[in-house]
Amino acid sequence: MRASVKVGKNQILDTIDKRIYGSFIEHLGRAVYEGIYEPSHPTANEEGFRQDVLDVINELNVPLIRYPGGNFVSGYNWEDGIGPKEDRPKRLDLAWKSVETNEVGLQEFMKWAKSANTDVNMAVNLGTRGVDAARNIVEYCNHPGGTYWSDLRKANGAKEPYNIKTWCLGNEMDGPWQIGAKSADEYGRLAAESAKVMKWVDDSIELVLCGSSGSKMPTFGEWEYTVLEHAYDHVDFLSLHLYWENFDNDLPNFLAKSREMDHFIKDVVSICDAVKAKKGSDKKINLSFDEWNVWYHSKDADAKRQPWDIAPPLLEDIYNFEDALLVGLGIITLLNNADRVKIACLAQLVNVIAPIMTIKDGEVWKQPTFYPFMQASNFGRGKVLTVQSDSPTYDSKDFKEVPFVESTVILNEESQEVVVFAVNRSEKDRLSFDVQLNDFEGLSIIEATELAGYDIKLTTDTNHESMEIKNNESFNVNNNLVSGEIKPLSWNMIRLSYK
Ligand code: AHR
Repeated sequence: MRASVKVGKNQILDTIDKRIYGSFIEHLGRAVYEGIYEPSHPTANEEGFRQDVLDVINELNVPLIRYPGGNFVSGYNWEDGIGPKEDRPKRLDLAWKSVETNEVGLQEFMKWAKSANTDVNMAVNLGTRGVDAARNIVEYCNHPGGTYWSDLRKANGAKEPYNIKTWCLGNEMDGPWQIGAKSADEYGRLAAESAKVMKWVDDSIELVLCGSSGSKMPTFGEWEYTVLEHAYDHVDFLSLHLYWENFDNDLPNFLAKSREMDHFIKDVVSICDAVKAKKGSDKKINLSFDEWNVWYHSKDADAKRQPWDIAPPLLEDIYNFEDALLVGLGIITLLNNADRVKIACLAQLVNVIAPIMTIKDGEVWKQPTFYPFMQASNFGRGKVLTVQSDSPTYDSKDFKEVPFVESTVILNEESQEVVVFAVNRSEKDRLSFDVQLNDFEGLSIIEATELAGYDIKLTTDTNHESMEIKNNESFNVNNNLVSGEIKPLSWNMIRLSYK
């Protein structure tokens, strides 16, 4: 079997916003405590953050991290996370039925983010709180000084403003599980008023409005339309969330689920543009896919947990090779929609449905999902090209005409590189893969690599080194045609230089 893509140098879809490689850290389970923060760990820095975890996060090159939730934010008082640690209250976190010590808060997280070389996508609480707390946190974080909240930040050790650019207006406000869940009208009005005053404090910020918690919500579509009607003029992005499951252990159908992400994006774009047309607005609302991942392995164990522990092990999915392939397909899908998806956050980063896991007093290790994300985030920068692709297809339980090969082609003019990411969904067929790169001169292969050849259920929890990216020697270039073979069930990256 053969698959191909054809593209010209000038067929540019759009520039990739680096925030598409964002991630997420919530006060949930062991993400913060025992994850990024463990003062007694041998590698802990003077703030109590684990340096070994920071080193692995830096390998992922994550430009944006959403914080502090998630469901957690809807019951959170941000003021609990500033000032002397000994004065901070312990509180019940009703979202995850845990106890929050507030040992880490905004004050510590902003320092940590600097060491992780990342920007913060700060979420405000629109569940139990509203306009007042939202404007105050922007003043605390971004106002230079001379006012109550900005001077308090200085007194707490941060002389310079944090200048946080990206902010989320609450989280999953349509979900009955959300603390302070709202109807679309209630949320739309609250978000519009909060957004308005947050921008009055700092007009350089960008705001993400909550879309539905998922495309299967009964109010999906109507919710998007209503909240946008209220808040259109004040916000910049609409959020999308999607988690994949494979409870029925159906590999062809599981790997086809990235198609659902693509449809979801296109549906939400249509709604944004319908509201734009109705309002006669010149402004375009883009998308923030600020939660996406595989999440199901840990659900049974989590259902059995007793409440009110501090940092209990929750949502600790142990990922396998098939999950890594679907995460790779998710990345390809996001990139092929980079004209409208400007922010995306792999949920989450450490210990909680995460590519990075930690052992208390022990090592940090990488899950299979780490590898495609790491390659894409490091090498998938620049512009996405619009490709013409051709691949044999298959039908699965829920999807028709799923291409075996899904790919994206990136042009990085700065480093003079073309980078191709491709997944072969076929379980048995090694495919010939042709990439026709028109209008390029002097093409030559820098590297062709693959994550392939593993049992689909292979995990890395017992042997942390059991999976690795290997070279694929089959690729060669003949003028403008790059060809090689991609293995069954494989994630592939081909990097080329041009003159
Ligand atoms: O990422 C885990 C949870 O999933 C988040 O807290 C919530 O927003 C979503 O339901």
